[in-house]
Amino acid sequence: MSNRPNHIAIIMDGNGRWAKERNMNRTAGHERGAEVVRTITSFCSIHPEIERLTLYAFSTENWKRPKLEVEFLMKLLEKYLKNEQKNYLEENVRFEPIGDLSIFSKSLRKVIDDLQSVTQGCNGLVQSLALNYGGRDEIVRAVNNLFPSTPITVEQLSNALDCKHDIDLLIRTGGDHRLSNFLLWQAAYAELFFTNTLWPEFTSVELESIIKKFKTVERRFGGLN
Ligand code: FPP
Repeated sequence: MSNRPNHIAIIMDGNGRWAKERNMNRTAGHERGAEVVRTITSFCSIHPEIERLTLYAFSTENWKRPKLEVEFLMKLLEKYLKNEQKNYLEENVRFEPIGDLSIFSKSLRKVIDDLQSVTQGCNGLVQSLALNYGGRDEIVRAVNNLFPSTPITVEQLSNALDCKHDIDLLIRTGGDHRLSNFLLWQAAYAELFFTNTLWPEFTSVELESIIKKFKTVERRFGGLN
């Protein structure tokens, strides 16, 4: 029996280093990163076992970056979500953003809303982009949304989160070994895979090889086998 990679989450790290290694501006790394988002999503959309792909695109901490880089990322995101509509539909991919979207500009929110409604009927892969997402922020928003006087259960808290689905396989590119406030709750029993590959160089072939290794891991979810 092998594990099914139903829900894959990826921390897409290494865009800046990829660009630096090529004497390019960091923004070139982000542009290249956006292209890799497209190819990896496409690969997952035709993979028979992958149901969900959750990608960390912008964290609650990323606002600390230089203003120009943040502005570039916002524009890149807007352009990507607008231009990719056709591909989402062709590949039957449903777009479900997570994170606190209220902080984004009106025009970016509109593009996000549009893509979400246009792809609502797609029943293939679900692609979630984590936008202004922080694991702690998510939990705090969820708890604040619940009645403070009522004791809550684990299931209730799970269902109040942006992302209501446990992660099976969590991958981080770029060589570091940390969660960076990404999907803290949902990754409770995820299998973690770290690779030195910088995100702009990540390929479907590497993803396939990680999935192959993941399938052989014995998952016990805290119990005994
Ligand atoms: C980390 O690279 C990556 C991000 C800050 C966000 C990920 C963004 C993309 C993949 C591109 C835009 C995405 C979409 C969906 C259009 P880094 O800059 O921290 O890299 P470094 O650690 O090498 O500096």
